[in-house]
Amino acid sequence: MTEDFDVRLVEDVKSYTPDPQYRKNAWMGDYQKVYNEFLANPDAFWEKMAKELDWIKPWDKVKEWNYPYAKWFTGARLNVSANCLDRHVHNSRRNKVALIWKGEGGSEQIFTYQKLLSQVARFANALKKIGVKKGDTVCIYMPLVPEQVIAMLACARIGAVHSVVFGGFGAAALNMRIKDADAKVVITADITIRRGKAIQLKAIVDEAIINAPTVENVVVLRRREPKVDLHEKEMDFYEMMEGMPDVCPPEEMDAEDRFFILYTSGSTGKPKGIVHTCGGYMVGTYYTSKYIFDIKDNDTFWCTADPGWITGHSYIVYGPLAVGATVFITELTPDYPDAGSFWNLVEEQKITIFYTAPTAIRMFMKMGESWPNKYDLSSLRIIGSVGEPLNPEAFEWYYRVIGKSRTPIVDTWWQTETGMHMITTMIGETMHPGFAGKPIPGVEADVVDKDGKPVKPGTGGLLVIKSPWPAMLRTVYKDDERYRKYWETIPGVYAVGDLAVKSDDGYIMILGRSDDIIIVSGHNIGTAEVESALVSHNAVAEAAVIGKPDVVKGNSIKAFVILRVGNAPSDRLKQDLLHHVRTTLGPIAMPHEIDFVDKLPKTRSGKIMRRVLKAQEMGMDPGDISTLEE
Ligand code: WT7
Repeated sequence: MTEDFDVRLVEDVKSYTPDPQYRKNAWMGDYQKVYNEFLANPDAFWEKMAKELDWIKPWDKVKEWNYPYAKWFTGARLNVSANCLDRHVHNSRRNKVALIWKGEGGSEQIFTYQKLLSQVARFANALKKIGVKKGDTVCIYMPLVPEQVIAMLACARIGAVHSVVFGGFGAAALNMRIKDADAKVVITADITIRRGKAIQLKAIVDEAIINAPTVENVVVLRRREPKVDLHEKEMDFYEMMEGMPDVCPPEEMDAEDRFFILYTSGSTGKPKGIVHTCGGYMVGTYYTSKYIFDIKDNDTFWCTADPGWITGHSYIVYGPLAVGATVFITELTPDYPDAGSFWNLVEEQKITIFYTAPTAIRMFMKMGESWPNKYDLSSLRIIGSVGEPLNPEAFEWYYRVIGKSRTPIVDTWWQTETGMHMITTMIGETMHPGFAGKPIPGVEADVVDKDGKPVKPGTGGLLVIKSPWPAMLRTVYKDDERYRKYWETIPGVYAVGDLAVKSDDGYIMILGRSDDIIIVSGHNIGTAEVESALVSHNAVAEAAVIGKPDVVKGNSIKAFVILRVGNAPSDRLKQDLLHHVRTTLGPIAMPHEIDFVDKLPKTRSGKIMRRVLKAQEMGMDPGDISTLEE
């Protein structure tokens, strides 16, 4: 960790400052000024934010910090769904569009705030009727359809704890999550539609609930005609709602009542049930939706994630709806019906804020810029990225081809555990490709060594959060020890598990997970750095790098490379790539081996599973691969 990181990779990368209008018109205004206000009085900062929302009873204290446990807005009572729906219905947004959904073959569904509230209330009443009570866990395993959002909000309305499992997980992964969370009800659909094909979802649920004795009912959204048969304990999503009143008084929740559980993969392989609570999560996601994405009343906001991930929880459902935004979602994929599908939707829906992941951006790069160039993307005013480091090459492409060298990019760093954005470059501020940005007002972050001492700028270290924030996880479900680990690895601070470098002016570059660092001859080399270097070669679409034990060097680097269309694997190209890494990063970062591959093992959220590559390479057991795509 004492090794100076080589930030040469971004040294010759241009920085960009958006038009001053952006900062002038932004909710945030002057970042530094707001940040200083926060530092001067953190509780006052959050209190001001919380006051923008509706509370049944106000808090006694903004925060109680009892290291490593935090409580926020203690004594306050609220309901999140009431803030996402009723708050708008009772003011001028009753007839504003809350949700637009596009499916295949041009199908479309539009919900105003009033309509969404009515549907949520009816489904909430239906859940109550089958015995779901405050505190019960409901597992939601659905495709990307409006009913998934309705199911989540209905749980929130009655105080049921949802555990949403992404619809791409297999039976064993679903079974583990149902059992760990003691789910009483599973809400699913007969099918999910991917690239024109129907994929059976319910069959997976059937398998997953064998051996899951807590499950009393399965609710099925039947999309297909003729409708699939329902068995004992199974009920139809819409039949349940028939005759149900469209009014359902929101359950009065304590700010610290459990809101939802969401499983995330940990370094051990066994997924962790991250627990979020009502008050703090609502304030954190509301604040970041409004101030990081700068959502205004006439925006159409599209986050390309699935509600089944934290990105979807926070920035499809709870944050944007708490703000009163118009949210666009789609079951379509970026390559179907063709590689222009997303850009066609941006043009058609006049999307103004677009939020996606680097892996998608690199896929768009691979498909070629002629696709986005066919469409009018001039409605876009802010584009965002999340999930992994946005390498300078991808940044440049995203900025130039999608943002037309005009729109700011918000590269947002955060985690399932943080619940909300933590680090980004606020719109209007200068963007340095390769660097996510600075801690947002409300967040204190730093880069430290393993003893918690801040490292000097330009030196790699561990990213930490130095003080509690409202949307932080409260525990790991049934495994509080794992929760404490976050705060005890480096005493006094929350250890993120990422390696980072800070520049002289406080911008933070995320290098990747701490377990994705390879030590070669005593030098720290970030897999993300090497991958970024490889991807910056014009023949490379995507790359993954792992460390292999080496008796002399400690580790050697092996790279797996996917080529861009029009390039063929050859020894000459291999040499060319090695030379390229050598000249961008230096000889110590040069891979010792390069394999050309067609595919990389990825999680369904698009993260490369280097662990799997490594296990394969060494003939070892890859461990838990339940999050692996396909
Ligand atoms: C990990 C958290 C937060 C929603 C999606 C992922 C990596 C996330 C960035 C970013 C570099 C990033 C980190 C983090 N990550 N955003 N903008 N730049 N890395 O949630 O599955 O909980 O993963 O994703 O390594 O720790 P998650």
